[in-house]
Amino acid sequence: MRIYECADYSAMSRQAANIISAQVILEPQCVLGLATGSTPIGTYEQLVEWYKKGDLSFAGVRSVNLDEYRGLSAEHDQSYRYFMQTHLFDHVDIRRENTNVPNGMAEDPAAECARYDQIIRDLGGIDLQLLGMGHNGHIGFNEPTDYFPLGTHLVDLTQSTIEANKRFFASEADVPRQALTMGVGSIMSAKSVLVVVSGADKAAIVRSAFCGPITPQVPASILQLHPHVTLVGDRAALTEIRKEGVAVCG
Ligand code: GLP
Repeated sequence: MRIYECADYSAMSRQAANIISAQVILEPQCVLGLATGSTPIGTYEQLVEWYKKGDLSFAGVRSVNLDEYRGLSAEHDQSYRYFMQTHLFDHVDIRRENTNVPNGMAEDPAAECARYDQIIRDLGGIDLQLLGMGHNGHIGFNEPTDYFPLGTHLVDLTQSTIEANKRFFASEADVPRQALTMGVGSIMSAKSVLVVVSGADKAAIVRSAFCGPITPQVPASILQLHPHVTLVGDRAALTEIRKEGVAVCG
């Protein structure tokens, strides 16, 4: 694993955007696995800025997003489809038909999960998967549990995730209780993985995910077994993992 420590959130965002843009420039038809949450917002802003300058194009890029809330439509301003449109897709030349987000309104979630896995297979898998991390170590919406789910599945959100995400909704009661998420198997099958972490509140989980035991109780810990993981964090998020004496690039 390669770890980049950045001075602050904006440096972290630029470094992550650099890695994504290198991928897109080297492989214009690549498949990007994309993430939501507050952490990657600055990364997307940077990519949009470079796109507007003419430094990169998403015209050939295909994308698959990690997850979507169950019961939220694409037009709902807290849906992850809406997030992707407003933070990235609407501002660059990616083709709408080349972007994929699970359908949170699907009447048959099992069929939607199977459809989504087929999309990932048809694309030939993911070249670069961007990930944030929940405070409990979740990746996508793979919550702590007693096994690592392989494919896309319906998940009951934990109270800690509902608490963490309620800031985006009018009240806690409005936070959906379920989501559709890509499985840990699909994430681990990506050729490379880019994890972004920011803030002191992530420091403890970053340490346990990357230096603690590999356990489905900390879903991100499975990334220790992935051969090409890059962790990009700001100084605050890396304070705990630093104590393990891991090698960090400046
Ligand atoms: C959500 C998303 C995750 C994301 C996590 C952390 O629950 N499903 O993909 O990594 O939030 O979000 P934040 O970056 O806001 O801390």
